[in-house]
Amino acid sequence: MNEEVKPLLLRAALNQETERTPVWLMRQAGRILPEYRKIRASVSGFKELVTTPDLAAEVTLQPVDILGVDAAIIFSDILVIPEAMGLPYEVIEKTGPVFENTINSVEDINSTTVANGQELHYVYEAMKLVKQNLNNDIPLIGFAGAPWTILTYMVEGSGSKTFSKARRFLYTEPEASHLLLEKITISTINYLKGQINAGADIIQLFDSWAGILGPVQYQEFGLKYIQRICDAITEVPIIVFAKGAYHSMEQIGKLSCNVIGIDWQTPISEAHRFSQGKAIQGNLDPTVLYADTTTIQKHTVQMLEEFGPTGHIANLGHGVYPDTPLDGVRCFIDTIKEHQFKH
Ligand code: CP3
Repeated sequence: MNEEVKPLLLRAALNQETERTPVWLMRQAGRILPEYRKIRASVSGFKELVTTPDLAAEVTLQPVDILGVDAAIIFSDILVIPEAMGLPYEVIEKTGPVFENTINSVEDINSTTVANGQELHYVYEAMKLVKQNLNNDIPLIGFAGAPWTILTYMVEGSGSKTFSKARRFLYTEPEASHLLLEKITISTINYLKGQINAGADIIQLFDSWAGILGPVQYQEFGLKYIQRICDAITEVPIIVFAKGAYHSMEQIGKLSCNVIGIDWQTPISEAHRFSQGKAIQGNLDPTVLYADTTTIQKHTVQMLEEFGPTGHIANLGHGVYPDTPLDGVRCFIDTIKEHQFKH
């Protein structure tokens, strides 16, 4: 990487002045792109794509080349951590992720292992290939699920509407819950260190299911472990995206991360109020991108102006939906790149 001028997105992450607001999209590497769908159709399934470094690297680079976003995010999944701990997953077409075995007891937790990170060598190989093919001014985002969100999949065995099994586990088995969160946290730290060695320039933690807990539970079973990861990862900036956690904005502001990711339901003013000088990422409702050009431009500009010219990484408030019109995605990105702030 060019040491003199840091890439735009990294400067924004550190709340430094930038010539414009950088932009990337959560889930940018995926089904919105016909080029992705073509490669995806050539393999047996999602997991083959994730575990084949040259293909994973290729689909990681696609949104940078085709859409002109300001960062690449490594093509992988948060569920590689449960697998590295001994719970393999499958992604079933139209159903989503499914685990054969789930966690119900301390005995189940004892039969999982703490991942040392080497299990996930295929991710690092893909990252090294990406770095060889990426311009110096485009950073590579590494990522992992936050421990609470990983626990939900390990206990539920799949996605869920209520997550009542995972939530119940915190009350019926609080000690076992902490034991499992501890093992996930150490595994995740080992994994993220491996990603940084392989070239990750910045890390995002996805706490996709933060919003299903109340503030007290989220502090004890969610944020505590995110802070542990922030303490351990000091080499690169960290983005914490805790979806739906507006009840805990003040506590999120106290984390020692660099960037707070927010969804579209979080008022930007609230995020600013509690951010303690951190940069903020987000937060357009992904469904805006289905509207006409004028509507997309209007809402995107409104968002940019409310955030202001510094300390903002533009993104959606959650991952881009797979059936989003590509023209809408392009309009969002181009509007951000062309925007001139009012003085
Ligand atoms: O952002 C990117 O472009 C990088 C790739 C990425 C994927 N998953 C690829 C993927 C990232 C960052 C993730 C994170 C992830 N995975 C999260 C956190 C983000 C969020 O959306 O809240 C979660 C909760 C998962 C778990 C997961 N994996 C689900 C719920 C699904 C099925 C849903 C779906 O989109 O179909 C997956 C599978 C998955 N991960 C796909 C992709 C592109 C779709 C599978 C396919 O292409 O066949």
